[in-house]
Amino acid sequence: MNAAKTLLGTVIGTLLLFGPSQAMAVTTLKLSHNHNRDHAVHQAMSDMAKEVREKTSGEVVIRIYPDAQLGSQRESMELMQNGALDMVKSNAAELESFGAAYSVFNLPYLFRDKEHLFKVEEGDIGREILNSTKGSGFVGLTYYDAGARSLYAKKPITSPSDLKGMKIRVQPSPSAIAMVKALGGNPTPLAYGELYTALQQGVVDAAENNIPSFSLSRHSEVAKFFSLDEHTMVPDVLVVSTKTLDKLTPEQQQVLYKAAANSSELMKKLWIQSEEKERAVAEKAGVIFSNVDKAPFVQAVQPIYAEIQKNDPELDVMVERIKNVK
Ligand code: GCU
Repeated sequence: MNAAKTLLGTVIGTLLLFGPSQAMAVTTLKLSHNHNRDHAVHQAMSDMAKEVREKTSGEVVIRIYPDAQLGSQRESMELMQNGALDMVKSNAAELESFGAAYSVFNLPYLFRDKEHLFKVEEGDIGREILNSTKGSGFVGLTYYDAGARSLYAKKPITSPSDLKGMKIRVQPSPSAIAMVKALGGNPTPLAYGELYTALQQGVVDAAENNIPSFSLSRHSEVAKFFSLDEHTMVPDVLVVSTKTLDKLTPEQQQVLYKAAANSSELMKKLWIQSEEKERAVAEKAGVIFSNVDKAPFVQAVQPIYAEIQKNDPELDVMVERIKNVK
């Protein structure tokens, strides 16, 4: 009782002393991701944070923790679900274990090109997927361009037969595991932060990622052959806990959604620059990029679609819907 009175007294005192504007409540949102500050997605999200701070007159502040400081993507998702974090920048592969709908983004050679992918992301399907995890305590705010993923190793990979007997690092995603199996390799799920050492020490023989991540994580130091098979275009995804969203006023929520969408547009431009720049950096460090004939890769993954058709009617419907987006 006395403590409550003292607290009330302090609040009234603060209001009298500073007036209502200085005593406004500031909501700080903690955002975790696993890239360093030089990665385009960090820049895009910093821009979003700036917009949110400005448009809410400083009432909502997003504090970004890069470099997996607060844990791997999986750990960050768990922290967010426990209420210790508000937002996580993850990607569709990692999110597959938290929301099955994300798996469509991880199916090889499903999207015809970037335009097709963006249309899906920005249309009904994309929104449905972002909202599909409400029951698990989080929703997606936006997608970020993360280019195409290709294989890289200490030796050139020109066809799926080269993967025979090779241990290929994949993200902890059932679709990524199925893809590498279909291509004939041995999938080894590992967190991103463990991959440099795993490649260096030969725990894995190869990995797959987009060019900026390959270069900025310095995997280019330990794997000199990058084969442009472009098997998937797995988008990065920014998610927020529903508890956090509920703490914001409707106006603040709107500002957050809009700033996230703007940062996603910005990311498309940053991505193109970053891909060019990081390819040049890697080439200078001795990496050989080679175009490969994609046909045998496309053919090798067809059993994945046959399997979906047979055993996963829901995913099959989604695959067909995606193919029909023109
Ligand atoms: C990309 C993506 C990350 C992901 C990483 C990975 O770099 O942006 O979110 O963690 O791939 O392969 O683990």
